[in-house]
Amino acid sequence: MIVSNRGPISFDVTSDGVRPVKSGGGLAGALRPLLARGAKWLAFAMSEADKAATADGQVARHSPGTHLVTIDAASYELAYNVVANQHMWFAHHGLAFDAPGSESENATTNSGWATAWEAFERYNLAMAEAVAATAPPDAAILIQDYHLCLVASALRETRPDLRLVHFSHTPFVGPHEDFLPPPATKRVLEAMSAHHACGFHSHRWADALTGTSRLHGFEPPHTFVSSLAPDLDALTTVATADACRRALHELHSEIGDRLVITRVDRIEPSKNIELGFAAYDKLLNNRPDIHGEVVFCAYVYPSRESLTRYRELKSTIERQVAGINAKHRQPGWDPIVLDMSDDLAGAFAALRRYDVLLVNPLRDGLNLVALEGPMVNDRAGQLVLSTEAGAHDVMGDFAFSIDPTDIVATADAMGRALELGPEARQTRAASLHKMAGSRTPQDWLEDQLEQAG
Ligand code: G6P
Repeated sequence: MIVSNRGPISFDVTSDGVRPVKSGGGLAGALRPLLARGAKWLAFAMSEADKAATADGQVARHSPGTHLVTIDAASYELAYNVVANQHMWFAHHGLAFDAPGSESENATTNSGWATAWEAFERYNLAMAEAVAATAPPDAAILIQDYHLCLVASALRETRPDLRLVHFSHTPFVGPHEDFLPPPATKRVLEAMSAHHACGFHSHRWADALTGTSRLHGFEPPHTFVSSLAPDLDALTTVATADACRRALHELHSEIGDRLVITRVDRIEPSKNIELGFAAYDKLLNNRPDIHGEVVFCAYVYPSRESLTRYRELKSTIERQVAGINAKHRQPGWDPIVLDMSDDLAGAFAALRRYDVLLVNPLRDGLNLVALEGPMVNDRAGQLVLSTEAGAHDVMGDFAFSIDPTDIVATADAMGRALELGPEARQTRAASLHKMAGSRTPQDWLEDQLEQAG
């Protein structure tokens, strides 16, 4: 049984009624094959459209084996947006956030936090009850990500027969980093230790859970490391589809034969998108000789738009790109092509077409794009990769490694990657391709099942 906040399918309200949307991303893609093997997938109904689709049977029809758990909208909002996304996400990524009860004008008040935390407990309990009611005896339960970190402690009591494996697609907060108010911190660490095993994409994040647990006096759970891998068949299907061919053609009419730097990301503070553009601006300042010869194709798509910080980040990026384009633009050349439309075919066209892929997160559980790009790229493209992405463990030997906070180093790495000689390009690109394909999503799944015993 798979358990996650976001399921393999969600629903949108259109003029024709409620319609299904297949969830993209590596998590859904890698876990979906389990449904075909008879697994059940429990996730939350995240919107009114999801609730309507649950009620009228569309979920079961479009995604057999999937069940969307429903709780009241106010509790869901507090659990998902306030506790999980405004606090835990930032803490696990080492990003600054407003501690509850702090002086900052955006901080949750102490009583606001207490209410949100109660909702988070209810949300986790609702999932634990749904699992307890439907899991077959001795089933392996694969719980995905930080949202559902408390489910195990309830299940240990009600269903001691179940084998509970937690997998974090994020990093984990380090022992000396800010986390939640003390009672919530203790609750999370205690609940994490109720799993039979907790998995991560990188040793660094597994060690962080162990260190943080010990510091707070908890016996750490057994941890394991298993990095997710791209699904070559699924990637090839999208990259060779007519929509992607058309997008490549359109891109070519826009940018011609110029050198291309690409990034593909969710609009997300941890992805460090602004520093990437600032580094490109620096590169253009330093190198007037490449003006008109290089284009930065940025496919960045909106996410978590109910949070102010995410909406503001989107506007900041739009302004920053407009400023850089206005500063360096020449007739017939815009230095940055920005696409925020969540256009999958366009993003894959940019991945096929890049000479340099920029992946510069401040901290990232894995970053699947760093592996997907080299699998589909047609141009012996190079990878500029943050040392703080879990993907660096896999791809670092053949990438241009960067400290993501260093603008000068990022600009320099992009410049060196663009200028690499043809032979070195081919050799490095072949190694990147080989490393990206060294594991499959099936390997990752089997590792989790093995931990469940
Ligand atoms: C990260 C998390 C996933 C999450 C995804 C999209 O990859 O690890 O659990 O589903 O971001 O975020 P969202 O809040 O839209 O589900």
